Amino acid sequence: MILDRVKPLDAILAAAEKKSLKRTLGWFQLMLFGIGCVIGTGIFVLTSVGAQKAGPGLMLAFAIAGAVCIVAALCYAEIAAMIPVAGSAYTYSYATMGEFFAWTVGWALIMEYAIAASAVSVGWSGYFSGTVLGGLGIHLPTWLSAGPLALGGVEGGFINLPALVIALLVTALLVIGTSESAKVNAILVLIKVTALTAFVAITLTSSEFDAERFNPFLPAGVFGGFGTGVGAVGAAATMFFAYVGFDAVSTAAEETKNPQRNVPIGLVGSLLFCTVFYILVAAGAIGTIGGTPIFDPSGTFPLETGSPELARQCAMPEYAQSLVCSKEPLAHVLKVLGFTGIGNLIGLAAFLALPSVILVLIFGQTRIFFVMSRDGLLPEKLSSVHPKFRTPHVVTLITGVAVAIAAAFFPVGQLADISNAGTLYAFLMVAVAVLVLRKTDANRPRSFRVPAVWVIAPLTIFGCVFLFLNLPAAAMLFLPVWGALGLVVYFLYSRSHSHLGRGIVEVVDDVAGEETQVPIHPPKD
Ligand code: ALA
Repeated sequence: MILDRVKPLDAILAAAEKKSLKRTLGWFQLMLFGIGCVIGTGIFVLTSVGAQKAGPGLMLAFAIAGAVCIVAALCYAEIAAMIPVAGSAYTYSYATMGEFFAWTVGWALIMEYAIAASAVSVGWSGYFSGTVLGGLGIHLPTWLSAGPLALGGVEGGFINLPALVIALLVTALLVIGTSESAKVNAILVLIKVTALTAFVAITLTSSEFDAERFNPFLPAGVFGGFGTGVGAVGAAATMFFAYVGFDAVSTAAEETKNPQRNVPIGLVGSLLFCTVFYILVAAGAIGTIGGTPIFDPSGTFPLETGSPELARQCAMPEYAQSLVCSKEPLAHVLKVLGFTGIGNLIGLAAFLALPSVILVLIFGQTRIFFVMSRDGLLPEKLSSVHPKFRTPHVVTLITGVAVAIAAAFFPVGQLADISNAGTLYAFLMVAVAVLVLRKTDANRPRSFRVPAVWVIAPLTIFGCVFLFLNLPAAAMLFLPVWGALGLVVYFLYSRSHSHLGRGIVEVVDDVAGEETQVPIHPPKD
């Protein structure tokens, strides 16, 4: 009984058909869009976190996480080209596995987008405090620039004020209806790619570059043990964050020319581009200043990132130049190499570009909330649209305040890990949805088909489970706890308020867009 509420795919497609957006995007625009959403805190900030977990094995970590995302992207490409409507993985699940699973995916996506936005806000704060305020000669005390809470202890601060402020500022922009234009996105992509190219060019050709710094390549091993979050695969589970956001490209499928070719090229192309860049950046950072983790007193286990013990060690003068202690690692590497001016420019690039990643993530979050509330699974008040700004201001404000609070009090690495747990679940469900649709609706036209789907989709599922099990235990546990809370909400509220459960299929494509209502059962008179 619980799994019987499946949204008819035809109703969803009819709504998409009605909207019939002009097909104007080519693979290059899709790639720009993908790179704009993807490059952010992962590479600009978490590089030091990844190095603390794996040392030079960080390069392998980027390759593993990139590979999982590429197979997941192929699954996204098939289903996005087939069901090109808002709500992404949530809507795909509603049409294939039914309301209950769709609810769990929507609930997990809240974890993905909102917490990822918090993580990027904290990442931005590191560059703001270090490069911008530092450059002006202002030094924010630790109690104002770091949160006190780490799941395993204290990080040494009281509140991360810059992270709180940027999250609220971006929220305010979204309430008044700011969306990023393709032009602004292209400029920001150019800034980010130029900054990373300069970093790679300077570090890889530096006289300080020494292959010996990659030895030992895997100081914490390949596999640090499930739930420990260390070793190359533990770092991969964290660095997965650096690729999150490509799923946003799937939402542009219906505006794409020749989607069977351009959607997979756009998705996979942007991921391949980022994977190569990330590995080169890691090589440049580690090859010039080293990336050895700081170990516990026994010398066998890297200290947990965000832990008080690591913060204490990092405060020692001998670690002042260490990559693993920096909150603005790319700028830090160049400053250590003597390129202070370029280091500052890279810090400035991160300062300018990261808010747009926060914007895309909070925007994505509000649209998921919006679609869920229009489906009746969350209170309809949430989807009310502001009379003047035409934006879903209630969900935007609730999301923004939650994002700001998490950003104010948690360290970036732990936020990224928690966000990854939710994202991995959503990716896994997309791969399952592709397989289910191949069985239940084999003859429906697909403008892109995953090649060797019975290999690629199971690989995606395996990759997601594997990375999930290699997250730190606390982040892993967050998913079932969050999920249990979701189930309580579902059974106490959503199930009885569901529009589908009450016989109405509602397909909403956008806040300002058309809405189609299809009664499933003819009304009785
Ligand atoms: N991939 C995005 C980032 O690294 C979320 O900031």
